[in-house]
Amino acid sequence: MNGTEKASAFASRKSGGAPLSMLTAYDYPTAKLFDEGGVDALLVGDSLGMVVLGFPDTTHVTLDMMLHHVAAVARATPKALIIGDFSIGTYPDPETAVVNARKLAAAGADAVKLEGGVAQADKVRAIVEAGIPVCGHLGMLPQSVLEEGGYKKKGKTPEQSAAILADARALVDAGVFAIVLESVVPATAAHITREIRIPTIGIGCGTGNCDGEVSVATDLLGTFPWFVPPFARPEADLAPQIVAAARAYVARQTRL
Ligand code: KIV
Repeated sequence: MNGTEKASAFASRKSGGAPLSMLTAYDYPTAKLFDEGGVDALLVGDSLGMVVLGFPDTTHVTLDMMLHHVAAVARATPKALIIGDFSIGTYPDPETAVVNARKLAAAGADAVKLEGGVAQADKVRAIVEAGIPVCGHLGMLPQSVLEEGGYKKKGKTPEQSAAILADARALVDAGVFAIVLESVVPATAAHITREIRIPTIGIGCGTGNCDGEVSVATDLLGTFPWFVPPFARPEADLAPQIVAAARAYVARQTRL
């Protein structure tokens, strides 16, 4: 299946069946293992800036970094849909957005993701017309964390909820195949999910309020113990095992 076919198969799951599963992946082995685990989509998110590259937020990530990691994930040739994130400042207008979407696709992304609603509709339309599927991202937008002065819950008031729904409708009209909702209060996330005809993928939106869920790989695996978001639901706690393996290795050297 090509990227467009994979994205439309993903979107068709809105109409029933098991909830959609998406995990971030930034490298070849993780992509291979998550694909073996059966996830529907692998998001090469710009969260890589924080959980892999050690920056304080995603505003330090460049397109070259994204291309490097998208290519690593693509080399795993997963069955899952590969979504490559645009890094901050790389989709300022429709023409630049298309040029950079083509670079992400050439690196191996089946689809791309960008942050924002009504203001991004012309860029989404241009990328979709260029033949590259686009995933939206609404609610808390990590690329705006500095302007916003922190990570804040979204959709708390009727006005905020209506604004997110208007953004979602603008993205749907522009042709996105799915929308990530980040840190949107559960009732608002559920309302948006009911109101639009494409899948919503939640993170920090409570359980069962979206058509699927996305988790950051390190939150799932317990490999970034220095910061664990309150909504994380780990399935493993690998950090102590990694430390123990390193200690065992050091001890083995000293016995030689
Ligand atoms: O960059 C990322 O990993 C993301 C998810 C948090 C949705 O955008």
